[in-house]
Amino acid sequence: MESPNVEITATINNVHRTLSVSPDESLLAALRRASYFSVKAGCDDGSCGVCIVLVNGKPVRSCKIKAVDMNGAAITTLEGLSQDDNLHPLQVAFMNTGAIQCGFCTPAQILSAKALLDHNLNPTDDEIRKALNGALCRCTGYVRGVDAVQRAAAMLRGEKPAPYTHIAQILPEEDESLDLPEAFYRRDGSRNPLPPLVFTPRDMSQTQVVGKPEIKVDARKLAEGRPVFTDDFRLEGMLYGALLTSPHAHARILRIDASKARALPGVHAVLTHEDIPRIKYASGGQSYPQPPPYDQVSLDDKVRHVGDRVAVVAAETPGIAKQALALIEVDYEVLPIVVDPEQAMQESAPVIHDEPDTEGIHDAQRNIVHHIEAEVGNVNQAFAEAEHVFEGTYRTPRQQHVHLEPHVCITYWDEDDRLVIRTSTQVPFHIRRMVAPLIDLPVKRIRVIKPRIGGGFGNKQEMILEDLCALLTLATRQPIRMEYTRTQEFTSSRNRHANIIHYKVGVTGDRVTAANLYLIGDTGAYGAHALTVNMVGGFKGLTLYNPPNARFVCDVVYTNTPPAGAFRGYGAMQCQYGIEILMEEIATELGLNVSDFKRNNWLKIGENMHLSKALGEGREGTEQSLLSSGLEQCVRIGLQATDFEAKRRSHRGQRGRYCRGIGMAVVMHGSGIADLDMAAATLKMNDDGSFNLLIGATDLGTGSDTILAQIAAEVLGIPLKDVIVYSSDTDFTPFDKGAYASSTTYISGGAVRKAALQIKAMILEHAALMLDYPEPSNLKLEDRRVIAPDGRLVTLSEVALSSLHQQNQHQIMATASHTSPLSPPPTAAQFAEIVVDTETGHIDVERLLMVVDCGRVINPITAAGQVEGGMTQALGFALTEEMLFDQDGQPLNPNLVKYHIPRAAEMPATDVIFVQTNEPSGPFGAKSVAEISIDGVAPAIASALHDATGVWMREVPYTSERVKAALHE
Ligand code: FES
Repeated sequence: MESPNVEITATINNVHRTLSVSPDESLLAALRRASYFSVKAGCDDGSCGVCIVLVNGKPVRSCKIKAVDMNGAAITTLEGLSQDDNLHPLQVAFMNTGAIQCGFCTPAQILSAKALLDHNLNPTDDEIRKALNGALCRCTGYVRGVDAVQRAAAMLRGEKPAPYTHIAQILPEEDESLDLPEAFYRRDGSRNPLPPLVFTPRDMSQTQVVGKPEIKVDARKLAEGRPVFTDDFRLEGMLYGALLTSPHAHARILRIDASKARALPGVHAVLTHEDIPRIKYASGGQSYPQPPPYDQVSLDDKVRHVGDRVAVVAAETPGIAKQALALIEVDYEVLPIVVDPEQAMQESAPVIHDEPDTEGIHDAQRNIVHHIEAEVGNVNQAFAEAEHVFEGTYRTPRQQHVHLEPHVCITYWDEDDRLVIRTSTQVPFHIRRMVAPLIDLPVKRIRVIKPRIGGGFGNKQEMILEDLCALLTLATRQPIRMEYTRTQEFTSSRNRHANIIHYKVGVTGDRVTAANLYLIGDTGAYGAHALTVNMVGGFKGLTLYNPPNARFVCDVVYTNTPPAGAFRGYGAMQCQYGIEILMEEIATELGLNVSDFKRNNWLKIGENMHLSKALGEGREGTEQSLLSSGLEQCVRIGLQATDFEAKRRSHRGQRGRYCRGIGMAVVMHGSGIADLDMAAATLKMNDDGSFNLLIGATDLGTGSDTILAQIAAEVLGIPLKDVIVYSSDTDFTPFDKGAYASSTTYISGGAVRKAALQIKAMILEHAALMLDYPEPSNLKLEDRRVIAPDGRLVTLSEVALSSLHQQNQHQIMATASHTSPLSPPPTAAQFAEIVVDTETGHIDVERLLMVVDCGRVINPITAAGQVEGGMTQALGFALTEEMLFDQDGQPLNPNLVKYHIPRAAEMPATDVIFVQTNEPSGPFGAKSVAEISIDGVAPAIASALHDATGVWMREVPYTSERVKAALHE
């Protein structure tokens, strides 16, 4: 029985409110129920802090206090910060500096900062980080947030900070000296935020909107905490869905009885495997046809990991749904388990997928879901002829994405009996196609809406809740809301493949002549992304140094652990971690300068990528060669900015408890999937000369809506504010494969550019008609006007009005699609400076610097945000983040207390420098930036650790215990 409600009176955002709350209800739940949707929920235990509000001026976690205790309190939520149309300086500064990415943590961050600035208008960097420390952010790296608070403080002191922008410099030629702004040497040891530094080649063409630090098009609504996320939406009669998960890592369901749950008042449906048809699918959101195996069903009679799906309920309140789950009786036959991928391949190991109806498993008896082999050249002969042969084995852990908005989905029937799925997804179009057969509805009766997304990083490139939520709506005919708990994010969503990476490298002189990579990928209980992640790992891991003789052998293995899936870095970061360490080990062994050795071998412009045909993504690829690279300049700039060689010399022979180290790694990634990814874009002209840009591309907080609008605005000669972006809705926006594979800027941007060029041609043609000018191609489109060589002009608004209402009436509108036979790699040099406490093993990272070539930088502020955020996730991967399981497959750290991600106060100086190049196949010369940012931190810290201590550590994360053990070995 739920207790009766009581009334409380509180002042919320300066307004007296009376709320009816239940005695056990948290302030968080009560505020959201009262439509203060800026207050977010991100965890189950108060550890994430995105629910922070101000109570009597102090930041408190609203999930940790009861609403009944708030009688008489003064509560401030983000909705209360702006007055009429006037934003608080903190909101303005967060928008201007790019401190807002997905925006899910923004309310808590801004309110935490407000509490600080209310009593301290001159905060230090440390004080700001301490204030922000309670609210986790997974997107940003906190750099711009700290900057934003400093700027807001200045505004509140009555100062007028200069407009926020990057630092622009001309890229020197090879024989010219390099002038870096003094701050980028970090000689004072501070970690104050620096704006991104952008180097531009002298001959790069000028642009008006592209390349400018435009404020994100969605920044204002996120800064105001408007109801823009999936869950900020209520429907009459909405029921709450909940998922019963398996307590066992491997078991057969012998009996399941939901009768007591169904009899509970307020329960509208309970579904088990007995209630739905058995239809096999693969949950990874990938292009049609998805790579095998199709090894899942929505609800099964067997469970394969703790957290696997058992049953779902729909009830009138979350509390009743929870009670109903407890009433479902399940008899399990517990089966033997295996959690180690090497043991899983043994003949004696338990068989995880013994069902007869899964196709596409390479060797089900040995749990090997995929076995991949690819080779170029003559590897055996090259090894036989090599002067030296080196080998190394490297291990990387399972990492959780920890997007702060959990998976959440709302399904309902619309007035035309079509099923609407409002969901936090990276792949709305794939979801529509994938869910259709599971719920027995044709695609045409399904509409998927993607609102703002609170981060994804690959974990929302999966069908996680949509099928279950839809099945409950089908069963009840009512709207259903389902959301994962934070624990379920760890046990029942996806994670990064743990890898065992064995490299063998042959060297003659200073040249790598042969390489062999044997990779074991642990895909957990299901094979979503099993093939593609590990193929990408093999391709990138053997192409960075591109030896002419290379072999890739890979086993992707099932274990009784939560399934792995897509995660930023996508196999490439794991394999580049291995090869980068081994390359430095080799250089050290042979007495070579490490950067020279790498330079002599890394992939260069004009070179064919030897494995590009053999290792596509889940299939044969296409021949590719490198058309642009700024890696040489990236390394040069980074070496100078860190004073690398001098520091290395000074570290030689150091003694004592605290030892310093500096490390470097070079990395490459890709831009989309060659010859597979497709995106389309639609542009439509309005009466006032503005344009609607309709895109299926999925902005997860990355800023892709903004940079795609910048591309359109650049072509059309208009300011960014004249482009109204809408993404994504399968009914209204054209197809896009979704946000993954670092494809949005390159592929979706290509589609936007093509559509804009078509629109431009239509505008010129109509303007020629209006001006009675014979040759449209001689007209110029700039500053919202079309200008003839003789000086006559018409405005875009006049063109729009004429074309819609007067002459040759038609809608100026275009849709264009784009694919590419290439996936041009961005390249980067990552630097890390650390201090190692040799007694405790603790690593204190003092500075991370990434110097990145991502082609033309479309927006330096959003691009820098991507790099800072990626480095921060990689810092967690390198130092603390590892999903742990006991021998029974029980998770040991499925929460944000035991699983530690970086907080604001723990961050080192985090600097970004761009070296612009002109990628001929990219829109305005752009390549991708989102994923390369995560690839280099772990190997750079490994390199620094060796510099500090002389010890090579070949397994991340470098926890204090692990480092201490290695140092004392
Ligand atoms: Fe902080 Fe996304 S912007 S979690």
